[in-house]
Amino acid sequence: KEQLLVDQYGRQLNYLRLSVTDRCNFRCYYCMPEEGINFASRTELLSFDELYTLSSLFCNLGVDKIRITGGEPFIRVGIDDFLYRLSAIPALKEITVTTNGTLTYKQQQVLKDTGVRKINISLDSLNAERFRQITRRDSFKKVYEGIFNLLADGFEIKLNCVVAEGKNIEDIIPFIELTKAHALAVRFLEEMPFNGSLVAGNSGWDHQQIYNYIASAYAHINRLPAAPSSTSVNYQVEGYRGSFGIIPSFSRTFCGACNRIRLSATGDLRTCLYGPPAANLRDATRSGTSMDGLMEMILDAVAKRKRDGFEAEEAGRMSIHTSMSVLGG
Ligand code: GTP
Ligand code: 5AD
Ligand code: SF4
Repeated sequence: KEQLLVDQYGRQLNYLRLSVTDRCNFRCYYCMPEEGINFASRTELLSFDELYTLSSLFCNLGVDKIRITGGEPFIRVGIDDFLYRLSAIPALKEITVTTNGTLTYKQQQVLKDTGVRKINISLDSLNAERFRQITRRDSFKKVYEGIFNLLADGFEIKLNCVVAEGKNIEDIIPFIELTKAHALAVRFLEEMPFNGSLVAGNSGWDHQQIYNYIASAYAHINRLPAAPSSTSVNYQVEGYRGSFGIIPSFSRTFCGACNRIRLSATGDLRTCLYGPPAANLRDATRSGTSMDGLMEMILDAVAKRKRDGFEAEEAGRMSIHTSMSVLGG
């Protein structure tokens, strides 16, 4: 009989977020400091063989959607071959990618060949100077043009925009205006305390404040239906081609229906973004644990999963060290 990953609250985890690197060619202020973080060494990273074996195992346990994350996934050499291998797993219905969009133009064909249809791109500003201040890199043009190439090529694009006072409030309305003519989705995210620094930053804009700000600029906004496990609440300005959404990533109003499980680039298994790792599957693999043993470890982690996934105290402590780039997005 097939074993599925169902927690004690009846939530089935069918969505694996798989980080392939903790490195990135950007330095977004909300993710890591200019000097970077204490990046994993090559041997600390799961190899692509290990990533493949573990992915297959997760698929045997009912995972049917894998999102490749990082760091920036496309900076890892060999990611293209890995995508081809993943795409041959029959039980896997969907492979998606979250990227900063700097290197997608190089991978467009690979993405098509491997059936990746949906790409989430981090874009926090439509202004080149603000973009530079936020990412500490001068890549606005490259990313922006890349987005339209992908759109023209038929990819479904979601932009992720982390909202913060003093950084990009003036971009909110221009982002929504981008959805007037373009069939893309813009999602506004609350900032989370995972910035790889000693000081946890959060400018305080929550989903309600973001919504109110937008609602005061538009008379006709329609709520769109969303999958039960969606992180975003989605809307459309009447008559616009695209849509916008708000992700309460800090307020976490969506935990009750969360269907995600995460594997970091160094093998940490998490059943919640805000929780400590439940196990390290790299160490288990390298010390010779059998496939059945690994399966037991995963099932055990899922059985222990908490309802709201985290303890506030734990999250507070994590903020001191952790970067989203380590957690795997
Ligand atoms: P779709 O699969 O397209 O719905 O995208 P996604 O929201 O799952 O993935 P994406 O990588 O685009 O994530 C966007 C943002 O959602 C992340 O940066 C987080 O802010 C938030 N997010 C994603 N998963 C979780 C989660 O499990 N918990 C919390 N608190 N936030 C999450
Ligand atoms: N708070 C909110 N979102 C974050 N991301 C990275 N760090 C943070 C943070 N501290 C976002 C990126 C990317 C997504 C995977 O996570 O913008 O789109
Ligand atoms: Fe890189 Fe993404 Fe972190 Fe920005 S948020 S530094 S793009 S990993």
